[in-house]
Amino acid sequence: MSSEDNVQPSIYMHADAVPWVCTRIKRNHRANTSSVLMSFSSLFLLAFCLVGGSVATRATDPSFDTNYEITWGSDHVQSINQGREIQLSMDKSSGSGFGSKFSYGSGFFSLRIKLPDKDSAGIVTAFYLNSHTDKHDELDFEFLGNKQGKPNSLQTNVFANGQGNREQRILLWFDPTANFHTYKILWNQHQIVFFVDTVPIRVFKNKTNIGVNYLSQPMQIVASLWNGESWATDGGKTKIDWSQAPFKAQFQGFNIDGCTSQNSNTQPCYSSSYWWNSEKYGVLDSIQERAYEGVKRKYITYDYCSDRSRYQTPPPECLQ
Ligand SMILES: *[C@@H]1O[C@H](CO)[C@@H](O)[C@H](O)[C@H]1NC(C)=O
Repeated sequence: MSSEDNVQPSIYMHADAVPWVCTRIKRNHRANTSSVLMSFSSLFLLAFCLVGGSVATRATDPSFDTNYEITWGSDHVQSINQGREIQLSMDKSSGSGFGSKFSYGSGFFSLRIKLPDKDSAGIVTAFYLNSHTDKHDELDFEFLGNKQGKPNSLQTNVFANGQGNREQRILLWFDPTANFHTYKILWNQHQIVFFVDTVPIRVFKNKTNIGVNYLSQPMQIVASLWNGESWATDGGKTKIDWSQAPFKAQFQGFNIDGCTSQNSNTQPCYSSSYWWNSEKYGVLDSIQERAYEGVKRKYITYDYCSDRSRYQTPPPECLQ
């Protein structure tokens, strides 16, 4: 692996380096909690360390069957560890996918994912929410595979009432093929936040007051491994190397923190009795804000908000 070359070497680390680094960082953090000069990379490390405990499967996690079902390519899906882990695979004959049994009107959704660990150019590993309606709402994490040694990109997109074209892409500060990491989507009536472990990488605020559609339809949680070679890697120029098949991605963490919603009225899901709707989750806190600023400064490789060839004036949601 030499993908370090393309990401930040200072905070790129291998799993076996974590315990030592974390002990050191936590100690430093305790010593400096009042210092506002804590470096950005330490913040990142601290976030990484704090979440470290959730990387392993928790004993309390429900099995896959409790909340999810296979929706595509069942002969390419394997259940591991009594359903605590699911492996999707893809070869020339098929990809595969699963979805939640219910749809949700708000929530804080997460999956732990480990991406295909070989030459995966053209392969897309997706974790998303989708209303499957005519003018649909959708929130996407799409991991775009790459040649061995080149980093995967993480693309996110937001569709509200059928309108998408809001792609953003980042590079990650770790190798997502080496270990499980937690990818999360917070959705309440105030904001949508995409997280990588504890780090916010994208925020989409409810700006209905300035005429921007906001997501309001019940959505299903979906994950899949599919053929995106027409667009995903180098704009579609780098194709899938089928000699590397089958491609495999693993998923864990099948607990769902969400408000189930069977009909189009999601109003009951805005109730403040759901913890993810509370004031605390209405805005980023100061630590999250700084980590988010760091992502915007160092890791974003594409942002529709600053693509002037596409939008001569940025769409209204891009303005502060
Ligand atoms: C967006 O925010 C407005 C004003 O705060 C609120 O009335 C509305 O319900 C929110 N919309 C959605 C779809 O959550």
